[in-house]
Amino acid sequence: MEARLLSPRIRAALAALMAATCLAPAAGAQPERCSPTRADALGPFYTPNAPERASTGRGLGVAGRVLSAAGCAPLAGAKIEWWSANPRGDYDDEHRATQEADTQGRYHYETDFPGRYPGRPPHVHVRVSAPGHRALVTQLYPKPDQRTLDADFILIHE
Ligand SMILES: [Fe+2]
Repeated sequence: MEARLLSPRIRAALAALMAATCLAPAAGAQPERCSPTRADALGPFYTPNAPERASTGRGLGVAGRVLSAAGCAPLAGAKIEWWSANPRGDYDDEHRATQEADTQGRYHYETDFPGRYPGRPPHVHVRVSAPGHRALVTQLYPKPDQRTLDADFILIHE
């Protein structure tokens, strides 16, 4: 289609799009991506005030950082609450934990591989909160043979 057949508004939009494309950083120079982590269902088994600990079992290690979607800033001391089904597929207090991200926003948690229960793939629940940010509730879904999971949690600034 010839440009003169397009309305001035469409031509302006196309020009803006082309300019934006040209200004995009080259591959390898991408800025750090900090899209907010997608939320997932809380489910019926969350209980607050779980004991502070970084381990509730062995076999599945989860590690990453807690960041703000505003500039990818690390959220030092962010509160991370975990709960998951035990290897038999039941929720119990032994598989609940609270921990804090370190000064760089990093955390490491280890637990048993979550047991399967009817209607759901194996999953680990997590709630992440930090001052000035909307609490994030989501779930992680390790594959059957997976022993480590990398998971950054990116919170929305309020
Ligand atoms: Fe669950």
